[in-house]
Amino acid sequence: MAQAKYTTHLGMVDILPDEIRKWHYLENLIHEEAAKFNFEEIRTPIMEQTELIVRGLGQLSDIVSKEIFSFSRGEDNYVLRPELTAPVVRAYIQNHLDQRGGSQKLYYMGPMFRAERPQKGRQRQFHQFGLEVLGSSDAVADVEIIAFMIHICDKIGIKNTTLKLNSIGNPESRNSYKEALKTHLKPNFEKMSEVSQKRFEKNPLRILDSKEEEDQPFIESAPVITDFLSDESFSHYNKVKEYLADLEIPFEEDPYLVRGMDYYTETAFELISPDLGAQDALAGGGRYDLLVEEIGGQPTPAVGFAAGMERLFIACEELGIELGSEKKVDVYIVTLGEAARKWGVAQLPKIREKGLSATMDYKGRSMKAQMKDANRENAQFAIIVGENELNEGKFTFRDMKESEEELLTMDDIIKNLSVI
Ligand code: HAM
Repeated sequence: MAQAKYTTHLGMVDILPDEIRKWHYLENLIHEEAAKFNFEEIRTPIMEQTELIVRGLGQLSDIVSKEIFSFSRGEDNYVLRPELTAPVVRAYIQNHLDQRGGSQKLYYMGPMFRAERPQKGRQRQFHQFGLEVLGSSDAVADVEIIAFMIHICDKIGIKNTTLKLNSIGNPESRNSYKEALKTHLKPNFEKMSEVSQKRFEKNPLRILDSKEEEDQPFIESAPVITDFLSDESFSHYNKVKEYLADLEIPFEEDPYLVRGMDYYTETAFELISPDLGAQDALAGGGRYDLLVEEIGGQPTPAVGFAAGMERLFIACEELGIELGSEKKVDVYIVTLGEAARKWGVAQLPKIREKGLSATMDYKGRSMKAQMKDANRENAQFAIIVGENELNEGKFTFRDMKESEEELLTMDDIIKNLSVI
């Protein structure tokens, strides 16, 4: 096979027809289940203003500091969206969605872009689906978000995940925790990894996320953020845990779980899968009670999560779960000669009108090649027509699976098809 002259960019992949049925399955499942949870879909542009993402996610976050795809055109700065929480908040403010009344319960799915080093489960263009609730500070919202995330995994058949849960409190408690953490780490500063040393001053919480071996002893002995929570944060966190227990959703508390973006407050969580290798997070999210105000709106508490769709598929593959139906077509019309071909073209709409799929050869191939093609397309029935059949007005109607056939008028064929 000749090498392609042009290829996709590093970390960006085509989704080919052979894979598309699992995407359709997952997309349909998300639409259906989101409707049951009474969430509404929101679609925002692929590109946003760079400033929104920088302000929203934080200058020091990994995404902003090294992973955004951005460019300018004229006076404007564009960024390919690396996530959808900040864009959804932007849309909420810009379109005055608060005026619709009640909490806004929104969901989305689509491509995101991060200039990361590609590896299994990590792409530069990848897909997320996610939920955001804007306008509720109630623990019920946190728990509904988590329940949806688990519910989708359950529906698919991914049942071996671990829900990790933490509360990172409000900015005041976080600041006092940061100081305590720095005091704890300082005596061992020289022994810490280079990345952690860099994070020490500006972003010490991220040190807790370090995978470097030399950092582990200091992380394991570090003070925990939950000891620094205000009474209010503590009681919110307890409510979340209580409701999760009521729903029989198991969780593991992880006091060192800190998320990558600056906008998080209070509840933080991740859904971890043992089937993903190094990139083990299927989904993640939490509260971001200050973000709406931070980017120009009225104070509005909010909570959400997003899951990586490619990562869900990787987990499915590891677990032997096949999503989506197999490729098939209901009817393939096999023709011999130009008159039969003309007749065939005219029958296709009649079959499709019955809600069935129908196709025929597009290449003028022999009858034998057309039958082979019908098998390759996994046709359930074939209608075979040549000059004789045309003259007699009766056509061979073949059940491809049973290898049985009979001669029928087109009206009878349509009647037979109507009952399948
Ligand atoms: P995140 O943890 O950055 O959170 O991403 C959520 C999920 O997207 C991850 O758990 C992972 O499954 C998937 N993901 C992230 N990066 C990649 C990548 N490079 N390749 C493949 N999959 C990836 C957020 O994006 C937040 N906006 C979630 C949120 C919503 N928080 C509140 N509301």
